[in-house]
Amino acid sequence: MKFDDVIKKRYSVRSYKDKEVEEEKLIKILDAGRLAPTAKNTQPQKIYVLRNKESIDRLGEYKRMTYGAPVVLMVCADMDEACFIPIEEGYSTYEMDCSIVCTHMMLEAVNLGLGTVWIRWFNSKELQKSFDLPSNIVPVCLLPIGYESDDSTYRKGFHDVRKSLLDEVIYM
Ligand SMILES: Cc1cc2nc3c(=O)[nH]c(=O)nc-3n(C[C@H](O)[C@H](O)[C@H](O)COP(=O)(O)O)c2cc1C
Repeated sequence: MKFDDVIKKRYSVRSYKDKEVEEEKLIKILDAGRLAPTAKNTQPQKIYVLRNKESIDRLGEYKRMTYGAPVVLMVCADMDEACFIPIEEGYSTYEMDCSIVCTHMMLEAVNLGLGTVWIRWFNSKELQKSFDLPSNIVPVCLLPIGYESDDSTYRKGFHDVRKSLLDEVIYM
């Protein structure tokens, strides 16, 4: 797919077909994340692939936020590998790094004919507990992936409402 078409086609898919994601596609998606830029090339991301009922069930109350997608990527940061900026005390780029990784994967999924939705409606400490993650592994976002159902469409009032460039770009 042309890059412009990927950008235009993407929307948050909240209804999925009961159809597996092919292994080759999943690997391509994960590899698109692997190639993402990260601060000082620290690559702090750790990506947990949830693709069976048992692992998706461990999301507990947050499972409903994954809308029945057959694969959920739990994008985490390894805080032991994250980049901290010494000129701003305590500031780390880990969320930025993982968000760029997640964006790469999201766009590759669309490129491969799949749908995704970015999820941050969770308490990261609860997920750490539920997946027995060590304290240095912090969940940043969830990315459900799958084939959108035939009646899937974008959420009105969200996807179709964008500010104009004039409202958000300031030339100085
Ligand atoms: C950082 C971030 C967090 C989000 N969290 C959620 C979420 O928890 N649940 C959800 O349904 N959508 C979530 N979304 C999707 C947004 O609601 C969606 O991208 C926005 O409304 C624009 O719609 P579109 O993606 O269809 O263009 C999130 C998106 C981003 C970028």
